[in-house]
Amino acid sequence: MPDKLFIMLDIKRYMSEKRAQVDVALDRYLPAETERPSTLHKAMRYSIFCGGKRLRPILCLASSESAGGSGDAAMLAAAALECLHTYTLIHDDLPSMDNDDLRRGQPTSHKVFGEANAILAGDSLLTLAFELLAQAPQGARLALELARSAGSRGVAGGQFEDLAAEGKKPDTALVEFIHVHKTAKLIQAACRMGGIAAGVNEAGLAALDRYGERIGLAFQVADDVLNATSTPETLGKAVGSDAIREKMTYVSLVGVEQARRVAAGMADEAIAALTHLPGATEPLAALARFIVDRDM
Ligand code: IPE
Ligand code: IPE
Ligand code: MG
Ligand code: MG
Repeated sequence: MPDKLFIMLDIKRYMSEKRAQVDVALDRYLPAETERPSTLHKAMRYSIFCGGKRLRPILCLASSESAGGSGDAAMLAAAALECLHTYTLIHDDLPSMDNDDLRRGQPTSHKVFGEANAILAGDSLLTLAFELLAQAPQGARLALELARSAGSRGVAGGQFEDLAAEGKKPDTALVEFIHVHKTAKLIQAACRMGGIAAGVNEAGLAALDRYGERIGLAFQVADDVLNATSTPETLGKAVGSDAIREKMTYVSLVGVEQARRVAAGMADEAIAALTHLPGATEPLAALARFIVDRDM
């Protein structure tokens, strides 16, 4: 127990340091609110800076370090990942999708700026992500990774199946397809992109690929558990909504307790994959534990 406590505290400090660095970069890369069209730029900044764990950028930076990189080369990729992720959240919350009012502890973008502006803020963040990658060393390689994880074979495809599955009978293969695509692929891309930014070799990239795939899936299983067990105050978004909308989740499939065990097992598998990497892998191991033990 003391060991676990120590790891949790340590990783919280690591995460808050990285988070601060990522926020400085995002502030630099996002257009100023004063720039025309001011309301659109305000909406982009509102969703980016209203909270958020910055997990994907942190995974990208930690993966870069595990591959022996300094983290500097990975910062553009880290910022791009957060822009793209935030776009998926804005669109996920729209009335035509999950129709949610609360995100990152604040009213959702469409509640504050209206639906058309929320769509445009999402579009703009998605586009900005690739503008940033185009400026990075290895930009084409990084853009390929992000595009593959976000399009119809990634997040958008997962979101399509997630909406289509509402109200259907829980089905293991379908839940896995949805979770892998709507969530795990982007998290896996974050890990791969960190490695690529650091010039990782093939064996190291394979390790990050497997690690990212396992924690990516574990992350969404943990999100399902939190939707069933947490409070809006702690989580910063609606709870109980998966059951109300009859979403296809791990909890609907196997219940909360078993879903927790499944997620913990995936974190173990992720940690076991962290071999053949020349740099420090402790942060990645602690992040895997954080992902399944988190309360937000
Ligand atoms: C929420 O992701 C959306 C899912 C993929 C489950 P996060 O839990 O990482 O959200 P933020 O970025 O911290 O708000
Ligand atoms: C998250 O799906 C995946 C994306 C936003 C792409 P959910 O709809 O399950 O996540 P929350 O609970 O709204 O964050
Ligand atoms: Mg959704
Ligand atoms: Mg949602």
